[in-house]
Amino acid sequence: MDIYRISGGRKLTGAASAAGAKNAVLPLLAASILGEGESVLKNCPALSDVYAMLGILEATGCRTEFTGRKISICADEMKETLLHGDLVRELRSSVFLLGPVLASRGSVRMRFPGGCAIGRRPVDIHLEALRKMGAEIGEEEGMIVCRAEKLHGAAVRLPFPSVGATENIMMAAACAEGITVIRNAAREPEIEELQNFMNKMGAEICGAGTSTVIISGREKLSGTEWTVMPDRIEAGTLILAAAVTGGEVFVRGARADCMEAFLSCMKTCGVAIDVREDGIGARAPERLSAAGKVSTRPYPGFPTDLQSQLLAAMAASDGVSVIEENIFEDRFKVLKPLRLMGADITLCGRSACVNGVGRLHGARVRAEDLRGGAALVIAALAAEGETMVENIGLIDRGYDKLERTLNGLGAEMTRTKEG
Ligand code: UD1
Repeated sequence: MDIYRISGGRKLTGAASAAGAKNAVLPLLAASILGEGESVLKNCPALSDVYAMLGILEATGCRTEFTGRKISICADEMKETLLHGDLVRELRSSVFLLGPVLASRGSVRMRFPGGCAIGRRPVDIHLEALRKMGAEIGEEEGMIVCRAEKLHGAAVRLPFPSVGATENIMMAAACAEGITVIRNAAREPEIEELQNFMNKMGAEICGAGTSTVIISGREKLSGTEWTVMPDRIEAGTLILAAAVTGGEVFVRGARADCMEAFLSCMKTCGVAIDVREDGIGARAPERLSAAGKVSTRPYPGFPTDLQSQLLAAMAASDGVSVIEENIFEDRFKVLKPLRLMGADITLCGRSACVNGVGRLHGARVRAEDLRGGAALVIAALAAEGETMVENIGLIDRGYDKLERTLNGLGAEMTRTKEG
């Protein structure tokens, strides 16, 4: 089992690059199977979630190759529509394969998808939409089973702007007969990325980035080449990591247009933000001010995927912040380990009231989910003494060698084997 050992109290300064976005590359990989011939995705992050997705695809007969930062994928030989059990259970994003496998192969079977333990995370919205598009959906021996000779377009109104459901429906509808209209669609930048990628494959999709997405089904899509957008969540994590140490960072490639709610929160905390064409600069004061009230919301609101990291930074700030989680009900598991490090946080319903203590102290703590794990790293960077973070496999799901990036900024952080 790998753990991180982090010596806190060092100011982070310098430049780092945001890797390709996890939340973009996973749906792009799923969409690739709709194309005839090979697709090539560049700027792919080497994350365990990406390897798990490739494993699932290979088990169906897809050919994949991941070298450097480039993934080549070809689904021409895909035969199997039963998705690999163990990997599916590990990876929430395996649910993205439902729509494209069903649309292109006429059936799909998979276990209920897994992923981080941050709430119930059901797939009812995905299934209800596919049903509307003509799929027969049942459950056999704990597996979701979907069949449809040919999906047809439908008018779908989502009860909640689910990111995954919006993407799944877009992929299913791209090869369905007729027009699909998704209302109350999620508006995340990664959805626009998926639209642009699929349009390059020959799909006809418009409206991504707004709450109405319109897809005209096409008989055939073809493989294409694409460069994956930078990860806005990793960019935000790096800014918080530097800011909590009173440091200064330039995140190459980070796109401010996708990070407005987060950047505005950073300004409230006293961080000077410098938006440039090639990235974002952030210069923090010696100690961060409180963020005040922050509520996570679907995009363009404050992202739930940066909530835990902000919480950790606020624990080491001056003043009181109230952080409300509205997307995933179980995203406060990080409170317990943060308290071990001296944080003063009270949970009241879906809000965490953080009384910044100025300085945390090192402890032995355990990551309980991906973003919570990143939050513990941030707390450790600001803490006095050494922190050991266990269970860092969860952090590897979303960060490509976080220690290398942070050490490049002057952190003292090692990955060691234990047990
Ligand atoms: C995606 C992101 C994840 C991010 C989340 C919210 C990827 C690979 N993952 O996850 O990193 O944290 O968006 O920005 O892009 N829900 C239902 N029924 C459904 C689907 C969702 O009730 O069928 C609920 C969920 O339980 C949750 C909320 O809707 O409370 C948001 O889920 P959703 O937007 O679908 O998140 P994911 O696509 O899983």
